[in-house]
Amino acid sequence: MKILVKVTLLALSLSSFLLTAKEVTVASPDGKLSFTINDVAEAPKYSVSFNGEQVIEPSRLGMVFKSGPYFDQGFAITSTTIQSVNSSWQQPWGERETITDHHNELQVTFAANRETVNTYTLRVRVFNDGLGFRYEVPKQPGLAQVEITNELTEFAIKDYKNATAYWIPARQFNRYEYIYDTTEFEDVNIAHTPFTFTLGSGVHMSIHEAALVDYAGMSVNQRRPGVLKADLAPWSDGVLVKTTANFKSPWRTIQVSEDAVGLLNSDLILNLNEPNKLGDVSWVEPGKYVGIWWGMHINETTWGSGDQHGATTSEVKRYMDFAAKYGFKGVLVEGWNIGWDGDWFFNGDVFDFTKPYDDFDIDAISQHSKDVGVKLVGHHETSGNVSNYRRQMADALDLYQSMGVAQVKTGYVADGGNIKRIDDDGIARHEWHDGQYMVNEYLYNIKQAAKRNISINTHEPIKDTGLRRTYPNWIAREGARGQEFNAWGTPPNPPEHAAMLPFTRMLAGPMDFTPGIFNMDFNGLGANTNRPQTTLAKQLALYVVLYSPIQMAADLPRNYEANLPAFQFILDVPTDWQHSIAVAGAVGDYVAFARQERHGNDWYLGALTDEQARTIEVKLDFLAADKSYLAEIYRDGDQANWVDKPYELVIEQKTVSAKDILNIKMATSGGAAIRFKAMD
Ligand code: NOJ
Ligand code: CA
Repeated sequence: MKILVKVTLLALSLSSFLLTAKEVTVASPDGKLSFTINDVAEAPKYSVSFNGEQVIEPSRLGMVFKSGPYFDQGFAITSTTIQSVNSSWQQPWGERETITDHHNELQVTFAANRETVNTYTLRVRVFNDGLGFRYEVPKQPGLAQVEITNELTEFAIKDYKNATAYWIPARQFNRYEYIYDTTEFEDVNIAHTPFTFTLGSGVHMSIHEAALVDYAGMSVNQRRPGVLKADLAPWSDGVLVKTTANFKSPWRTIQVSEDAVGLLNSDLILNLNEPNKLGDVSWVEPGKYVGIWWGMHINETTWGSGDQHGATTSEVKRYMDFAAKYGFKGVLVEGWNIGWDGDWFFNGDVFDFTKPYDDFDIDAISQHSKDVGVKLVGHHETSGNVSNYRRQMADALDLYQSMGVAQVKTGYVADGGNIKRIDDDGIARHEWHDGQYMVNEYLYNIKQAAKRNISINTHEPIKDTGLRRTYPNWIAREGARGQEFNAWGTPPNPPEHAAMLPFTRMLAGPMDFTPGIFNMDFNGLGANTNRPQTTLAKQLALYVVLYSPIQMAADLPRNYEANLPAFQFILDVPTDWQHSIAVAGAVGDYVAFARQERHGNDWYLGALTDEQARTIEVKLDFLAADKSYLAEIYRDGDQANWVDKPYELVIEQKTVSAKDILNIKMATSGGAAIRFKAMD
């Protein structure tokens, strides 16, 4: 891999950085976004302006410790450092190969003017597409072993009375797996991040965090109207973060854009993470997979043993043969190891990660995998008992490595707040999936897997905060309602869901949504039954819209073989991209992405809509100016609608160029998927 890093330290102009006695401002390279430290009454605060309008009013900074200093009032700015960076770096896999990191950075150190409060630094980076700030806390009197009991960071939204929020609740049993709600800003209580909202002016904003390492996950809690407070998921003993000074908080991030697509075309979160720490990661392989999976979710087969057991040697071989025939890289197999019998939601104590059921012959399967050139995709379901998993993790990963497995899906099915760990005294404690204990546990798993050249796809994960840059083997995760809810969710994902995800969950990073359900009527059609509430064209569009370097063709082989013309799009669509551009969209209504394949000239487009049928106009100016393309279009038929005509799909071809404009007509909960084949 070619690594290109160019860091320019610019001579700083007075217009970018203004330092007065009590206030210091840093602006984005284009000057539109600015961050100001307001040293109001000696309690450090910050505010944010965009296009000359304040969008975040002076908002508190600071944190509180169980003992020792209290980072609240009593501070003054003692020093500031500023620098500008304009560099680029390359992703081994991703939405785009080259990422530009252009920002202005300000470091402000606060120190006490009373003896008890000591010192900390706020590091701020302002990009054109948003900003991040983090606390850096040095070792100091009274602060070596640290227990944080309150993070005081607030986000005071100036125009909250005219703002609309798109959000899911935090600190609930179902982790991140909620249907997104659209409400007036004032109706938000405690929300997960990315937390997206629009202002009356049309400005789009999203609050999240980057580089969540050895710290608790942050939710936002509306404590007073318009004022969101950082709310960290606590340990079982109530402490929020346990650490040692020096330490750094994750970056608190705020994306700001004039329009909805601006949120999608941002690299803010990745830019605020540290570069790859794993070195050569050529063993991390993007690609498509199938699996013994959907059959269990629709009750055709079972995870547990018995007549209907899914993970049998013959079934795995059958899937591997299917994968080989159509060029898929892997076959996910769940339910192969001892522990699934009974109610596996509560089986965390009994899972054995190296003992297969009798009808799963490891040697025969490893051999077949070699013979047909298809890899087994591994699976570790912990049911939330992380101590049981931790005890077996090294052996379990070793076993998979010996079988030639390159990718493992993990699972942490347990209610929020109910992850079970056994502490040093042998006592069971119950933790949050987004508390510090689990933040560290998930990353431990990634590092253990990396040692064995294995990539991890985490389900029931901690939310993504861009750590795939630092650990490129953290290849995907769930962290929202995926396709499985269409099999058994009450209710299934509504038509709006996939039009909401890009503007919310997906701002964090790739999602293993598992698209591609072709048979919608496993329970019959109709609006009130479990099924994908989409058209078939929309299932295809998901491959382009919902970015992931690994994509599953989730349906049963027989359903694909019954519709080979539509299946062709899934066979063609890549999962690794040279460029990605969001070309149209409105939060929760519709969205369209154009992406160019890595190492090739073809472009792909995915567009989808919510419950409203609509036609969108897409300029093809992303295509190379000097080329013609054969557009292979998979679109909703004229009579299609998601309720009773989901299968009406038109596949047609057209020659197009960068000068053309396409009108894409989408049915209710419909979409379109297009391959633009470059012609010589
Ligand atoms: C929940 C995961 O999201 C799903 O994909 C998996 O099949 C089950 N847990 C069982 O591990
Ligand atoms: Ca909508």
